[in-house]
Amino acid sequence: MQQDHLAVHAVTKSFRINGAAVPVLDGIDLSVASGQFLAVVGPSGCGKSTLLRLLAGLDTDYRGEIEHDGARVAAPSLDRGIVFQEPRLFPWLTVEQNIALGLLNVSIDAAARRRAVAEHIALVGLTGFEKAYPHQLSGGMAQRAAIARGLVNRPGLLLLDEPFGALDALTRQQLQNELQRIWSHEKTTMVLVTHDVDEAVYLGDRVIVLSSRPGRIAADIEVTVPRPRERSDVALADIRSLVMDALEAPRAIASITVPVGRPIAVPAPQPLREKVAV
Ligand SMILES: Nc1ncnc2c1ncn2[C@@H]1O[C@H](COP(=O)(O)OP(=O)(O)OP(=O)(O)O)[C@@H](O)[C@H]1O
Ligand SMILES: [Mg+2]
Repeated sequence: MQQDHLAVHAVTKSFRINGAAVPVLDGIDLSVASGQFLAVVGPSGCGKSTLLRLLAGLDTDYRGEIEHDGARVAAPSLDRGIVFQEPRLFPWLTVEQNIALGLLNVSIDAAARRRAVAEHIALVGLTGFEKAYPHQLSGGMAQRAAIARGLVNRPGLLLLDEPFGALDALTRQQLQNELQRIWSHEKTTMVLVTHDVDEAVYLGDRVIVLSSRPGRIAADIEVTVPRPRERSDVALADIRSLVMDALEAPRAIASITVPVGRPIAVPAPQPLREKVAV
């Protein structure tokens, strides 16, 4: 039985712009089980990156509770990796030096450090490019290096903010497959923010749809399609339609589990947070 290891309770967040409070997240309740792959979608500006920064502990100015493995998130932690849309590699460091930065505050000896870096270079398919500098990499390769840096100290939780947003469609699909392989190999809990509904449904065990700002959870849709998944699977297409409906009419759906093999009926609009059985 999986245990909840990320618990978000009644999280509300505002920014102050020109002296006025701008609400960005409103009453976010979320519980993520260990090893789960959670995808988060929502309109631009609804607070997805803000939520991820709160989960990472990069921003602690919020109301509500965020707990990771039973402890309040009060600062960044080695047990929470983060990958951003742009790779954010240091141009003067090689691939292996950039990845080793993920071990900066980890007390292990030099041999273990080298081994961990080499293993993660292999894990993301960058073997042979250890000594390359970021300007010698393609966009996809640079993002692989960023993923390796996020994973190298084996965090329990990896947070990904649009990690493939800047890549072409083919590279994006390749990296989605890589991420899925890494996730099943490493058993890391993943929270992936994406604009791409196909990506969310293909990768997620569960898709959270946020409403427009202030972001609220408009839908929580379980993707019960077994893995390995076929992108062309009609069951994924049906779940994609549910996610699209929730994005377009965010007050329509709250919590949906679609049993595999059962026809899906899109529920009629309901008040926010009512449970809908399909
Ligand atoms: N440091 C900040 N100061 C003030 N306002 C901010 C700050 N960071 C974000 N915001 C505001 O918070 C809102 C949510 O921003 P956020 O970056 O979380 O959105 P997002 O859902 O990730 O959008 P996108 O899909 O475009 O990346 C926006 O209205 C933005 O202007
Ligand atoms: Mg964002």
